[in-house]
Amino acid sequence: MERTESFQLVATPHIIFGSGAIEQAGQWSARLGSKALLVTGRSSLRRSGWLDEIVSNLSDHGVAATVFEGAEPEPSVNMVQAGCEMLWEADCDLVIAVGGGSSLDVGKAIGALAGESGEAAEYQRGRQITELGVPIIAVPTTSGTGSEVTPNAVLIDQERGVKASLRGQGLIPHVAIVDPQLTLTLPPAATAFAGIDAFTQALEGFTSTGANLVTDKFAAEALVHLAGAIRTAYSDGEDLAAREHMSLGSLLAGIGFASSRLGLVHGLAHPVGIASGQPHGRVCGLLLPHVIDFNLEAAQEKYARAARLVGITGDSDDEAAALSLHDWVTQLVEDLPIGQSLSDLGINEEDLEPMIAPAMASGSTRHNPRGVTEHELRQFLEQML
Ligand SMILES: [Fe+2]
Repeated sequence: MERTESFQLVATPHIIFGSGAIEQAGQWSARLGSKALLVTGRSSLRRSGWLDEIVSNLSDHGVAATVFEGAEPEPSVNMVQAGCEMLWEADCDLVIAVGGGSSLDVGKAIGALAGESGEAAEYQRGRQITELGVPIIAVPTTSGTGSEVTPNAVLIDQERGVKASLRGQGLIPHVAIVDPQLTLTLPPAATAFAGIDAFTQALEGFTSTGANLVTDKFAAEALVHLAGAIRTAYSDGEDLAAREHMSLGSLLAGIGFASSRLGLVHGLAHPVGIASGQPHGRVCGLLLPHVIDFNLEAAQEKYARAARLVGITGDSDDEAAALSLHDWVTQLVEDLPIGQSLSDLGINEEDLEPMIAPAMASGSTRHNPRGVTEHELRQFLEQML
């Protein structure tokens, strides 16, 4: 008998998935605290009516909510600092983050830093989080980032012009409530961007050098749900079944890559996102076919498996099957409002050089199935212009 592989899995302890799951927000909150800081984005949750519903559900269970509204699409350390101050002032013992990836990241960072005395910017620069924060409940309203189950929050420090992850066990939510109904009002472009981000995360998690037998199960299952539903969710946002598959796929991809880590798309996504100001998902979608092409030989067997899993091909030849995945993804990206080249994102030649160092330093780049040199990265970016 062959020995088994060793592995580690980081996971959110309580995951409640399904349409209607949001009704459990109050009872879960009451188990964890009595005063919640409810962190959300600019106004969509209020406009959709969900904010009032959630606040009233919390109140029914004896939990008072202080609403911290206005998480930006690309959240900053200053925003997290402002949220921490609101949490301390209102004496909150729990954070409930409801929204897209950025709202969840802001909420997670606030919860994780609630016991710390330093400024949020110091922790983004690498200072260790040593004090216990407050418990976090994460409720995604997009199906994309998987942030509800990951131990990091992506934040921008405008003063330094750096986009980087705050990482640590304290950032993992205690509870993830994933209710696909909350994604029904997400507009088509945002659905496409979040969806292709989730698909990229599933595929990069699957091919990462940090992948193991358990993360592979999550990534593989995620790929099937996402590939099967992304076009329908984009063209008919009210199709609840498609939304359910997208939410499930995004969640499963998140559980996988929280442990396996990602690859070159995500290594480049931060610097390209900073230079272009474009949404993370759009940037990932644009980079994905190019990165698959770059990795084609190194990740051939995994790409071939992915292609067969999602039903793109039945070809038993790995080279042909991997190529069919590349072509399928290229077509998918063309069918979504993403663009094909870096110039489509408004990036010029002079923007490229500053991207090299942060992309090379990224943990995602280090987990890419094909090792990348600075020279190769420079060439890769030039070809993508
Ligand atoms: Fe992503």
